[in-house]
Amino acid sequence: MGTAVKLLGTGSFVPERVLTNADFERMVDTSDEWIMSRTGIRERHVLSDGEKNSDMAVQAGYNALQAAHIAPEDVDHIIVCTFTPDMLVPNCACVVQSRLDAVNAGAVDINAACTGFISGLTHGAALVGSGQARRVLVIASEVLSRVTDYQDRGTCVLFGDGAGAAVLGSGDGGHAIGDFFLRADGSNPEALWIPAGGSNLPASANTVAERLHFIKMNGREVFKFAVTRMIELIEGAAERAGIKPGDIDLVVPHQVNQRIIQAAVERLGMREEQFYCNLEWYGNTSAASAAIALDEAVRKGRVKAGNTVVLVAFGGGFTWGSTTIKW
Ligand code: ACO
Repeated sequence: MGTAVKLLGTGSFVPERVLTNADFERMVDTSDEWIMSRTGIRERHVLSDGEKNSDMAVQAGYNALQAAHIAPEDVDHIIVCTFTPDMLVPNCACVVQSRLDAVNAGAVDINAACTGFISGLTHGAALVGSGQARRVLVIASEVLSRVTDYQDRGTCVLFGDGAGAAVLGSGDGGHAIGDFFLRADGSNPEALWIPAGGSNLPASANTVAERLHFIKMNGREVFKFAVTRMIELIEGAAERAGIKPGDIDLVVPHQVNQRIIQAAVERLGMREEQFYCNLEWYGNTSAASAAIALDEAVRKGRVKAGNTVVLVAFGGGFTWGSTTIKW
């Protein structure tokens, strides 16, 4: 048996600038009515020129450390979950390490698209559980506005920017976190991808002209995948906890689309109030979404002592995963 892993604190940060559905009505052929009825999204926060991913990551990480009463020098490892780092090298976690002055920490990025935060928690918990780290800061931070094609109405209305974070540790206090579950199916990468900018298709005048540095998505395929996996994840987490889905106190899902969450609620015979949703105000912030939602749920008092809280996420790759926190 390894060391019991605890969630010691959470934090989040979103940029000030807001894009409303009315803004999109001026940019592409769409309407507030279409966006609200198909997605449930009303607003998203996006970075302004000159701001960067690490600015959000640092702030969310700092807020989580404050909530956990942990000093930066007591952090043994920083994991930043993102597919939109400031640059390819150095990684975003090194930028955060330096700006937080976490002088005793290792630093690594994890890219699992929208499953990033749960992947980060899983790997961070493995370090704590195996005794290789006492305190791990897991930050999920995404700047999707820089990889969104604002000429593509099928995707641009969905995404926003933001960051969420959690501190993992061991010992007294905090909330037991476990039952980590991660899966992937990489057989269909084109369902959701950014074709260019990696080493396979480096940036060129051609890739820019063809808009290949932006997110491309088969919306219907992703929709089906998301509903199926969300149901499986919740059923699996409940079963391993020895309870029924209806007995979970709070599900904090990846904030993807209200219709996807609604479909899972109906198919599982659950109640809407069992799900914490804030996508109306942030859109889909990929890896950051479940992290921001968890922090907001905590700050709003939606999580109480004794509650069973299940985090679920699914995204590009495909990747999907869950973890359960006993509050
Ligand atoms: N405004 C108006 N019309 C639009 C818009 C828009 N913003 N976007 C698409 N349409 C049009 C399409 O062009 C299409 O028109 P057509 O029939 O004339 O060709 C029509 O609406 C229907 O298009 P669909 O793609 O079938 O619309 P759907 O009801 O499936 O909704 C959506 C599209 C919202 C993208 C949906 O497929 C979806 O939610 N998919 C999940 C994908 C997702 O949220 N991904 C996020 C990233 S992945 C992740 O986080 C896991």
